[in-house]
Amino acid sequence: MNKELKNEVPKHVAIIMDGNGRWAKKRHLPRIAGHKKGMEIIKNITKAANRLGIKVLTVYAFSTENWQRSQEEVSYLMKLPIIFFNSFVPELIKENVRVNIMGYVNQLPNDTQKAISAAIQQTSRCDGMILNIALNYGGHDELVTAFKLMATDLQKGKLTIDQIDQNLVSDYLMTHELKPYDNPELMIRTSGEQRISNFLLWQLAYSEFMFTDTYWPDFTAEEFYELIHAYQKRDRRFGKIKDE
Ligand code: IPE
Ligand code: IPE
Ligand code: MG
Repeated sequence: MNKELKNEVPKHVAIIMDGNGRWAKKRHLPRIAGHKKGMEIIKNITKAANRLGIKVLTVYAFSTENWQRSQEEVSYLMKLPIIFFNSFVPELIKENVRVNIMGYVNQLPNDTQKAISAAIQQTSRCDGMILNIALNYGGHDELVTAFKLMATDLQKGKLTIDQIDQNLVSDYLMTHELKPYDNPELMIRTSGEQRISNFLLWQLAYSEFMFTDTYWPDFTAEEFYELIHAYQKRDRRFGKIKDE
C-alpha cells in the first residue's frame, strides 16, 4: 500500500458493486455464487478503506429495483447480510468499524432485520470508519420520503418554507446521519456499466466518477488504491475557475 495516499484520501467513497452475475456466468456457476464471492470482496475493501483513513465507505448491496429478480436470487440476497455479519462482525469490531444501514429496512425479511440490528448494536461503540450498506435503497424513493417528511413538518408548523435550503434538504435524506461526510467525493462502479442506477441522486452532485471493467468479485484492494490515486489527480473545480 502506498502510504503517500494517506493525507488526501477522499473522506466518503461510494461503490456500486456490480458484475456478480456475469462473473458467475463466465465460470458456468449460478448467479448466487457470484454474490457469495462478492460478499468476501466487501470484507477486503472495507479493511483496505479503513487502513487508508477513509471515514465512510458506502456500498450499494441491493436496490429498490432488485426485487424484480427471481425469487431464488432475491431470497439469497436477503440471506447474505446474515452470513456477512455472522462471519465479519468480530473483525469489524477489531478494526473499529461501525455498521450503518441505509434503506427501507422494515421491508426486509425478519431474520435479515434481526441480523442488521445486531450488527449495528455490536459495532455501535466503534468510532473509526463507517461501513454504510445501502440495502433496499433507491434514490427516487429516498427523495419521495424526504418530500413527504418535509410536507408533514410544514403542515405541523415545525418548518416554514423560508427555512428550506440545501442544508435542510440534506437533513431529510437517508445520509443525514453521515454528516459531515454525507456526500461522497468519489463514486466507483465496477463491471463496465456507466450509469448510477438510482444511487444517491442528490449526494453525487459533485462526486468524481470512476468506472472499471472489473467484475466486483474480481475487484482487489490494489485496484481500489489505484482508483484512489487516480482520484487524487483529478481537478475538482466546483464550477469555479482556478488561478494559475
Ligand atoms: C451486483 O451484481 C449485485 C446486485 C445488484 C445485487 P449483479 O447481480 O447486478 O451482476 P450482473 O450485473 O448481473 O453481472
Ligand atoms: C445496481 O446494480 C444495484 C446494486 C449494485 C445493488 P444493478 O445491476 O441492479 O443495476 P442495473 O440494472 O444494471 O442498472
Ligand atoms: Mg448488475
